[in-house]
Amino acid sequence: MGHPTLRQTAAPYPLEMLGSAEFNELVTDMRETMHTAGGIGLAAPQIDVPFQIAVIELDGGPSRYGKIPSQPFGVYINPRITVLDPETAGYWEGCLSVPGIMGFVERPQRIQVNYVNVKGEETELVAEGFLATVFQHEFDHLFGHLFVDRVTDTAQLSFDTEYHAFHEDRD
Ligand code: NI
Repeated sequence: MGHPTLRQTAAPYPLEMLGSAEFNELVTDMRETMHTAGGIGLAAPQIDVPFQIAVIELDGGPSRYGKIPSQPFGVYINPRITVLDPETAGYWEGCLSVPGIMGFVERPQRIQVNYVNVKGEETELVAEGFLATVFQHEFDHLFGHLFVDRVTDTAQLSFDTEYHAFHEDRD
């Protein structure tokens, strides 16, 4: 947090680069960075690459975010979100770019995601619940936003230790 790349709108990824050695290396780097940090998603601007690419992978089960669904590893290129149901639900969010801090954020809980996959195919999916929050959090990074911008009640910001002691599974 504080690095200018995290506050820029990232450029759409040039689709002619899909399948190139440079692209494959970037995806590998993002996946390894996410795994090393124990994260469930990562956007390219978080490693100072200002392109609209995010990776998401949820193993499911217990986590820092409580019990979460599983979602296989996916690469989302130039994604766009359409809100299908504006009704919001709140979850505690964390971020590899804001280490040690959690915050309670409310977001629309049913969305459609349109994106290009690694093969260059236009793809769409519908996400609900916690997964909808994960997509919105990661894609926010592509447009210069951090979850802390979305925390409406700053009393709902917490260090990790206090989150585990006072807030986990209590929302
Ligand atoms: Ni993040």
